[in-house]
Amino acid sequence: MPSGIGSEVFRLVVSPSLLFVASSLILFFVDLNPYELEPEIAKPNLPGSVIVRDTVDEVLDVLGVDLFCQAKACVRGFGDFHLALSGGSTQEPFYRKLMTDPALREFPWKRTHLWVVDERRVPFEDQKSNFGMIDQIIVRHSDIPRDQVHPIETLRDDADVRYEDELRSALEWREKGHDRLDFVLLGMGDDGHTASLFPRSPALVDDGRLVTINRGPNVTPPDRVTMTFSLLNASRFIAVLVTGRRKRETIARVAGKESARADLPILGIEPLAGDVRWYLDRAACPGAD
Ligand code: 6PG
Repeated sequence: MPSGIGSEVFRLVVSPSLLFVASSLILFFVDLNPYELEPEIAKPNLPGSVIVRDTVDEVLDVLGVDLFCQAKACVRGFGDFHLALSGGSTQEPFYRKLMTDPALREFPWKRTHLWVVDERRVPFEDQKSNFGMIDQIIVRHSDIPRDQVHPIETLRDDADVRYEDELRSALEWREKGHDRLDFVLLGMGDDGHTASLFPRSPALVDDGRLVTINRGPNVTPPDRVTMTFSLLNASRFIAVLVTGRRKRETIARVAGKESARADLPILGIEPLAGDVRWYLDRAACPGAD
């Protein structure tokens, strides 16, 4: 063992080098590489831009940031922000995140108009009511002014006409071209429906309406009230949130574009002068392990 200055040099220089060489040899022989990058997740070829993350939490983080930025930009540009939310089990955790994530604490709820993309024709207290869920998770815990919250009066016979009127009058003061929803959050059912636009159902027929009632054998009961393709496709930004293994085959069908919109209504989402962005986790991606 060297002594004096020599032993100091050994301690400071030689011994760390030996440690490094030794640990590299161990890693080499046991075939471990701590610096290996996560394998890239192949993005399915969906219409629009596609965000893929490993976990649902990571997906919701990206969606949260995108929503926050859009909201701030619209409030800066127009003074308010028109947000339309869907129902669904995939969306629910995102709504909780919106209210609890410190990074989203400055969300401009006071300037936000909150719309509902679609509804089952049930009372708000019913477990199946989308507004009921949104109200419980968001509205009651935000400082959003009550007259900026727009539930669909689903039980009225003319619920669709009233909602369309309400949308038109809330948006009409905006400059032409900007009189549209700013951000729409959609989900996708296993059968490829989005909003309450079900395969081969009456609401798929474009009759110029912005909101319509949908019912029939392909509409999962109860009857629905839904925003139409005309309204959705006029939006500034459409986010489609799809997670979980259960949705993988449907994502593959959308990417394959082998079906028509009548069989796979999500294919009808084609914004005229806006963006559509998909938010997927690894489990929802065809071909992912
Ligand atoms: C609803 C919807 C519907 C939903 C999708 C996805 O109220 O059910 O508006 O379009 O977003 O069916 O639902 P899941 O996330 O529960 O699969």
